[in-house]
Amino acid sequence: MAAVDRLVAQRRREAAPAASRDMLDLLLAARDAETGEALGDGEVRDQAATMLFAGFETTARLLFWATWLLALDRLEQDRLRAEVAAFPPDRVSGLDDLQNWPRLRMVLLEALRLYPPGGMILREAVEPDEILGHAMSPGMHAWTSMWVLHRHRRFWEEPEAFRPGRFAGQFAPWTAGGAYMPFGAGPRICIGATFAMAEASIVLASLLARYEVAPADKRPVLPVGKMTTMPDHEPLFTLAPA
Ligand code: HEM
Repeated sequence: MAAVDRLVAQRRREAAPAASRDMLDLLLAARDAETGEALGDGEVRDQAATMLFAGFETTARLLFWATWLLALDRLEQDRLRAEVAAFPPDRVSGLDDLQNWPRLRMVLLEALRLYPPGGMILREAVEPDEILGHAMSPGMHAWTSMWVLHRHRRFWEEPEAFRPGRFAGQFAPWTAGGAYMPFGAGPRICIGATFAMAEASIVLASLLARYEVAPADKRPVLPVGKMTTMPDHEPLFTLAPA
């Protein structure tokens, strides 16, 4: 938080040049349509920190788990490399270009299923309610576990297996309203899903275009559910020129 405070103070003193204006400049320039008031430092800091956490750590975790799964599955990795070689990352100039990497998207969707960076979401009842026959009084919490939904035998064949092909022909399956909800669901669904998928596709494609990735040792990596779905240790990878 102190780092974000420093950034906010610095940007207030000195606006970024027009060409590199970012969300922080927009927040600082924002005015309430009715009162004309600007956001206070605390509000700007909280908004910026939310975007930083919501948008950075989650996508980083997705990239980690996708890379880990591919390091263990060399056939899949080679298949993706061939797809990426046919349309190298430096040719990407818009979102539509990502459609040249259908298999890469399936791999990301499958990584999000097996290791959803946000493993659970929480809701607090604001008024008396009922969920699945359970009475909820105001202040009670209800958790939804994407981790459980994504690995439930009732919804998935071979739920523990890394099988990207299960998402063949599906572009944004989290919008289908089923048991797949790595970006949440309903009115509070992630606003960054499209951006995250684009960012992760380009980063992963750039990595695979240059390197063959392998685990440096055989120690398994276990998921730990904290704020995000983290690895229990940071494994080393070996990178060989592709
Ligand atoms: C792989 C990457 C990502 C995953 C897995 C992810 C996951 C989620 C989930 C599960 C929620 C719903 C939380 C809830 O219902 O309580 C959410 C909300 C949100 N996400 Fe993401 N997210 C990702 C990337 C991003 C990015 C890149 C941004 C911004 C650039 C972002 C911004 C947000 C914001 C602002 C919300 C709150 C929306 C609201 O409450 O109305 N996320 N995200």
